[in-house]
Amino acid sequence: MSRAPAVRAAKATTILLIEDTASLQIVYRSVLEGAGHTVHLAATAAEGIELFRNLEVNLVLLDLILPDRDGLDLMKDMLDLRPGTKIIVITANGSINKAVEAMRAGATEFLVKPFDETRFLDAVRNAVLPIAPRPASLRAVATTTASPPTGLPMQTTEATSGTFIGSSEPMKRIQSKIASVAKSMATVFITGQSGTGKELCALAVHAGSNRASGPFIALNCGAIPQDLLESEVFGHVKGSFTGAISDKPGAATAADGGTLFLDEICEMAPALQTKLLRFLQTSTVQPVGATRPRKVNVRIVCATNRDPLDAVRRGLFREDLYYRLFVVPIHMPLLRERETDVIEIAIAALHHFSAEEGRSFRSLDPQVEDLFLRLPWPGNVRQLLNVMRNIVVLNDAAVVTLDMLPGDLAQDASQKPTGAPVAIPADTGGLKLDHLIGKTLAEIEREVIEASLSFCGGSVPKAARMLDLAPSTLYRKIEAWGGASG
Ligand SMILES: Nc1ncnc2c1ncn2[C@@H]1O[C@H](COP(=O)(O)OP(=O)(O)OP(=O)(O)O)[C@@H](O)[C@H]1O
Ligand SMILES: [Mg+2]
Repeated sequence: MSRAPAVRAAKATTILLIEDTASLQIVYRSVLEGAGHTVHLAATAAEGIELFRNLEVNLVLLDLILPDRDGLDLMKDMLDLRPGTKIIVITANGSINKAVEAMRAGATEFLVKPFDETRFLDAVRNAVLPIAPRPASLRAVATTTASPPTGLPMQTTEATSGTFIGSSEPMKRIQSKIASVAKSMATVFITGQSGTGKELCALAVHAGSNRASGPFIALNCGAIPQDLLESEVFGHVKGSFTGAISDKPGAATAADGGTLFLDEICEMAPALQTKLLRFLQTSTVQPVGATRPRKVNVRIVCATNRDPLDAVRRGLFREDLYYRLFVVPIHMPLLRERETDVIEIAIAALHHFSAEEGRSFRSLDPQVEDLFLRLPWPGNVRQLLNVMRNIVVLNDAAVVTLDMLPGDLAQDASQKPTGAPVAIPADTGGLKLDHLIGKTLAEIEREVIEASLSFCGGSVPKAARMLDLAPSTLYRKIEAWGGASG
């Protein structure tokens, strides 16, 4: 049954490809099958989940933009059905945030268009390697956002070292600010982009306070269904609503004597904002269905990766609550703004992961350091840790060299001077199956060839190999179009 030749069976992977663009389906499939993998194809989210239920696949390749459903939601459903499924998400250039979001929600890897054949096959190969799971430090947020609200979405400590690494000026300022406010009861409001260490900062505030031996309760305000939010934060008493089968303390009560970390605070529903404000003013909680309020003693730390003032201006966040919370602001800088911290963190991570994986890595080659200092790191520290983890798992040596870096990083480096990317143009994205139906075979052929050429960075011999055509045939076709339409 399998298309993969038997001799490659040991390395071959069964892949579910969920991609709605016909030309890309053909290109991806041809590359994957060429490498000996078996491909099952779905053009919609509905088809995709159906196949996922009925097939045993080792890997899912998922385009995040699908005609019938948001790819991220589909991914979450698949992970709910089979936790631990390897999923590579594919996003359009310019939607790196979407990719980061997907990683947080449990994706194994992401590919941002344009990417080339090598990067594509590398990602597939790496994704299915039988490696140990990523450390909790890399998935703490994913666990919180993806898990159903069966209990408090609570987090205690992180796996790496739990402390900030980095001696840059911006980080020194942050460390000293944390030290000076930790002991007070003042509310700390942490801002910064994804992966900059907001949660680590909240933990540091807690650890430096005199409530360090008390609980640290983290609540992801964006991840709890609206109808459960109030009960998650303030608790409920038995019988107060259908499903309230016993008394349940909310996060605010659980944090009594410790710190309540309200993560993604700008995502909090308006009704709950009102209740939170009352809680902050009175220090009392009233569980759903309770007749009397209860006094609790908690220190509030909150965080967002949005601009909170902008959320206020747009009416998404209560102004009075904003001023109540925005007492001691701490802004986490981007990793690329932290001088040589990137190297310090990379080396610490290298040692940490090497110990974990039984590798002998000690240092970074100067060329790698150079590159690391120049890279934009859109996913910040989380991305860097991910890269280091990848390197350690896939290689073993004393020194990390350029060739060990994941393909996309190396590509970033090689493209630096000209910036001319190998492109799958965004405009092939409009090509759907139903759209093909009205076309002539010649027109379809041309679209497929053009997509293949883009995928291969314009290399005719490569595209020809991928399409199983003679390069001369391909050259002839391209020449013919030149005359036909220009
Ligand atoms: N300076 C640092 N030194 C070492 N590890 C760090 C540092 N900053 C962050 N980390 C680690 O990087 C990962 C991401 O950090 P964290 O979860 O705190 O980011 P975040 O800002 O909350 O991200 P998000 O907005 O996506 O939730 C964690 O594993 C954390 O332990
Ligand atoms: Mg966070």
